[in-house]
Amino acid sequence: MIGTKMRLWIFFALCLGFWPRGGEAADPEVLKPRVPAEQIEEARTWVNPFPSTHENIAKGKAIFHGKAFCVTCHGKDGKGLQNIPGLRGKLPRNFTDKSWQKVRADGELLWILKNGSPGTAMAPFIPLVLTEEEAWHVVLYVRSFEK
Ligand code: HEC
Repeated sequence: MIGTKMRLWIFFALCLGFWPRGGEAADPEVLKPRVPAEQIEEARTWVNPFPSTHENIAKGKAIFHGKAFCVTCHGKDGKGLQNIPGLRGKLPRNFTDKSWQKVRADGELLWILKNGSPGTAMAPFIPLVLTEEEAWHVVLYVRSFEK
């Protein structure tokens, strides 16, 4: 999923203080749907069964920082590390980007957690790392970066 070499690079990037600039307008490339056209209609109908309560968001946060290691690429602040060597043009998503948040349905985010984003470092997490229930909690946490 993520090799030792990549982990090292991420570590160095962090040490050097290459933090991303946040809150910028999205690259139009980022707004293009990631779910294939023939599946997107269905994915958009999937509704998060868990309400966005403080408790559920906290559960998602624990997973994001813990066993799912989302934080390694998407950062503590959700802005996504922007200087990971080798990921040029396919960088981790900046979750604080409001225009990106707006164009994505919750179901599309769950689809990504099931399938990954093919051709990028974003791997599938369901079912190997996360159950679907856990993934929905992480989606609540991802949504909380919009605020
Ligand atoms: C190895 C680095 C890495 C890890 C770990 C990682 N991601 Fe990603 N993620 C990426 C990259 C790179 C992209 C951009 C993919 C693209 O542009 O299609 C991305 C994109 C996304 C997207 C946006 C897809 C879209 O529709 O635009 C979501 C949501 C997401 N990740 C959630 C997560 C969650 C939740 C976790 C932890 C369970 C996680 N990621 C772990 C690298 C990572």
